[in-house]
Parts: sequence; C-alpha cells; structure tokens
Amino acid sequence: MRIGVLTGGGDAPGLNPAIAGVVERAALDGHEILGLKRGWEALSIRENDNHIILLGPEIIREYSRLGGSKLQCSRTNPVAEDKDRTDLVKENMKKLGLDAVIAIGGEDTLGAAAVLSERGIPVVGIPKTIDRDLVGTEYTLGYDTALNVICDSAERIAHTAESHQTIFLLEVMGRHAGWLALRGGEAAFADVILIPEYSFTMDQLTSVVDERLRESERLGFEQLYKIVVVSEGAHIEGEDAVRRDSQIDEFGHYSLGGVGNYLKGLLQHEFKHTRYTALAYLQRGAPPSQKDRQIGRRFGHNAVEMIKNGDTGYMVAIKRARLTKTPLEEVRKSPSLVDVDKNYDTERLNVKIEWTDLPDES
Ligand code: F6P
Repeated sequence: MRIGVLTGGGDAPGLNPAIAGVVERAALDGHEILGLKRGWEALSIRENDNHIILLGPEIIREYSRLGGSKLQCSRTNPVAEDKDRTDLVKENMKKLGLDAVIAIGGEDTLGAAAVLSERGIPVVGIPKTIDRDLVGTEYTLGYDTALNVICDSAERIAHTAESHQTIFLLEVMGRHAGWLALRGGEAAFADVILIPEYSFTMDQLTSVVDERLRESERLGFEQLYKIVVVSEGAHIEGEDAVRRDSQIDEFGHYSLGGVGNYLKGLLQHEFKHTRYTALAYLQRGAPPSQKDRQIGRRFGHNAVEMIKNGDTGYMVAIKRARLTKTPLEEVRKSPSLVDVDKNYDTERLNVKIEWTDLPDES
C-alpha cells in the first residue's frame, strides 16, 4: 500500500513522533509512506511536486525527538463552502497512487477529513492540539508538552513576582477551551485561574486577588505576590474575548490574545505592581515531552493498522486509558470544554480538586 501523511492546523509537539510512528509501522509491513507538505494544501493544488516527499525509516531517529512538523502545517480547508476542492483531492490521490491518507490535526483538519471521508476518500485521523478541545478522545498530541511549558514558566514568573511583590498575569493559549489554563495553573499552584467557560466580573477578580493576599497573612506567612494564569479566551461577563487582530482563517476563526494585558491595565488601579506575560508560541514550539513522543508513536502505529484493517473514517483515540477509535464525524462536534460544575471553583476562581478524580479522566 501507499499511504499519505499530513499535518494541518497549528503545529503541536508530538507531530514528528507521530509521523515517525507511521513510518515505523508501515516499514514493518513493506508499505510506502508519502509525506504531504503543508496540511491539506498538498492535495488541494495542481502543481504539488514540491509538496511531496518519500519518507523512509531513515527519518525515524530524527523525527522522534523534534518539535513542530517537518511536513509543515497550514490552515488550508479543502472543503470550504466557497472553494471546495474535493475533486482535486481525489485526482491528486489517484495521481500519487495513494490508497489512504493519515491526517494529523485538530478540529479543523479532522473536520475536513470527516467531510472528505463521507465523500468516499479513505482517511484516518490522529488527534493533535495543545488545546485538548477535541471531542471523542481524552488525549490530543501536544497538550502534555504545553502543560510542562506553562508549569515551568509559572515557576520562573514566581521568582520575579516574589522579588517585586507583583500580581502577575500569565496568559496561556487554548482558544475557547480552558484546559491549558486549568491544568497548567493547577500544576503550578496558581493563586487564580481564569478560563473561557466561566465569565467573571472585575469586582470579583479584584476581591479574589485581595483575599488571596490576606489569606497568606492570616495563615501566618507573608506572600505579597500572586500568580494569575489566564486563558487567552477568558473574558469579563458581558464582554467578548480579546482578539489579537482582525484576521480570520479559512475555517472562520479569528485569533485570540491580549486579555492578560487588558486585565493588567484594570488591576493596576487596585494593585500597585501588576505585570503580564503571554507564553504564546513558546507553548507550541517546545521539544515533545516523553508522553507526546510515546503517544505520538503509538497513534502512528495504530493509524497504519486501522488502514490495513479497512477502518477508515475514524480517528485514533484514547478513552479510559486505552487506545481505541472514534468516528471522524464526532470531531465535528468539538470543542470539548471544561465542565465548570465538575472542575472549577467559581468562588475562588480556581481549579476544583476532587480527591477521587485524576485530572482529565472522564
Ligand atoms: O489551536 C492551537 C492554537 O495554538 C490555539 O491555542 C491558538 O489560539 C491558535 O492555535 C493560534 O493560532 P495561529 O497559529 O494561527 O496564531
């Protein structure tokens, strides 16, 4: 068999190990893997010679440890209503002799895969997004690495915050899902965590920060700095999320960013020394963690097995700590958001910890 593999959407740590896993499994059975560059773009244009690369087992060692995607990414939508390229995708697959495609992506790339699959194209998905907002799987590649970056950065911020007695806002990604802020903030023991799923008022935020300052005093130690982890999609009640600019991508998404800076301006009226840092792309560009390498590799193996078994139209998934598969169609119900009742303390604006639950298990 000849199988194409592509990476679409925003890059995430774990993409290269997943590609390495695909190549490793395919090589065992003598299948050929073609790398399709820049996501769905490779199959959505006519002159695509520069987009195609043969991937043999010699790439495995290098790909296994690298962040980003050696196949590059794009937010190309081959099934956009105003520019549908389904026929061209079919034509290109025929021209390249592809029996199936493995699409590694988030809700957009896999949403397009679901539509193409309904239209008769054999495709298997591998879930990736640092946001962990895909329905149908408990894990998405990149999430663990991004959480490690958040946790490590919060530690660094705490040193400077302590030295200057600062209320420090640390803005993290996640789009409209608060998982990164919630679990990164939990791991970092953040004093306040703001997520998109719960809109707060400025009065509430101010008094919660104030309470946390008084609380340390009450408990007999002086801690005059506080760490507020804020998700880029978090917003004040009655207001929209802060947009980074006015650009909209092929899937209709605008970019979020800047809420930390906005809140800093408002909090400065109450707290003398307030500062802000956005982690932005530092969360995405890190080398994949051990978990993202292992899961990426296994996802890659499973995707090839699924194609061999004729299980196209599915996404590789993890449910209840087991590798399984989910119909691609389900991904279109994304995003999967934080359940506020279960996971968030709306009084303290922080994570709710249930002693019987492990994080992110459902
Ligand atoms: O979906 C991954 C993500 O990193 C989001 O957390 C973020 O909002 C978005 O992509 C940024 O997209 P871009 O790479 O287009 O700036």
